[in-house]
Amino acid sequence: MERNKLKNLVLYHLERILDENGFDVRAYRPSFLMRHIESRVKWLGMKRVEQYPLYLESHSEELQNFLDSIFIKVTSFFRDSTLFRDLEVLVFPELLKKKGRYLRIWSAGCATGQEAFSIGILLWEALKSAHNLWDVQILGTDINEKFLEKARDAKYSFNEIEGVNPAILEKFFKSIDGRNFEIKPFLKQWMKFDKHDFLKNEGFPGQDIIFCRNVLIYLNQDAQNNLVFKFVRSLSDSGYLILGKSEIMLSEAASLFTPVSFSGRIYRKRSAAKGVKSGKTSFSY
Ligand SMILES: C[S@@+](CC[C@H](N)C(=O)[O-])C[C@H]1O[C@@H](n2cnc3c(N)ncnc32)[C@H](O)[C@@H]1O
Repeated sequence: MERNKLKNLVLYHLERILDENGFDVRAYRPSFLMRHIESRVKWLGMKRVEQYPLYLESHSEELQNFLDSIFIKVTSFFRDSTLFRDLEVLVFPELLKKKGRYLRIWSAGCATGQEAFSIGILLWEALKSAHNLWDVQILGTDINEKFLEKARDAKYSFNEIEGVNPAILEKFFKSIDGRNFEIKPFLKQWMKFDKHDFLKNEGFPGQDIIFCRNVLIYLNQDAQNNLVFKFVRSLSDSGYLILGKSEIMLSEAASLFTPVSFSGRIYRKRSAAKGVKSGKTSFSY
């Protein structure tokens, strides 16, 4: 059989089997899914990729193995330093003018929590001595419960905190045994980590900033577009959406935002985008 037809057939069966088991992976790019199928095939020592759907169907543990392989947890503290500099200079000073003195920040696809804690650290520093005057909640969500357990635990190894500025380390982390470190309780009190699939479910309204970094690249264009519209509905007026360094806002949704920084991929919701009701452009300017 022609190679492309074969791939489509394998993908068709993979999506069908996962769907029957409650996991809809159609939103992910076919090339992304195929790469992970090929790597599982290699790992399992199979000769041909078309053997995989049958194996998946007859080995229930392989379902989880495949899902674990596509929910990539690569992350780190202060990942993409340009973004964090832009947050400090361009975003936080604007947000801190807010009269109500409360902030809601959502890290969607937070993996093991480093992104959410980095945001918290930067915000704590920006608030100087006014922490007690502000009501802050940083919500980290992910589809993978194992990642969230680690985020809630807030314990990181020496390797995981590599590159964190020593003064930040001293102020926000306590050493457990010299090789492992835990986020201090005063910062943890701002954090909440919940399981949430942003493809299946609506978001959380009233957010001042939504971070969704290094996930969009794995999704097909329709799913990316729908997700950005969901984020528009979750953002408060003039709220910020922050994407990953290699992620580009799709044209349909781009008109709902004003770019604040291209290097940091920061976009600000235009007030005309208030009335967005669905995943389609059902609003006017
Ligand atoms: C590569 S990590 C990015 C972590 C962090 N945002 C960063 O940039 O460092 C992608 C995360 O997105 C999560 N993810 C993938 N699909 C998701 C979905 N449908 N809903 C929620 N989280 C999802 C994965 O489980 C993984 O933890």
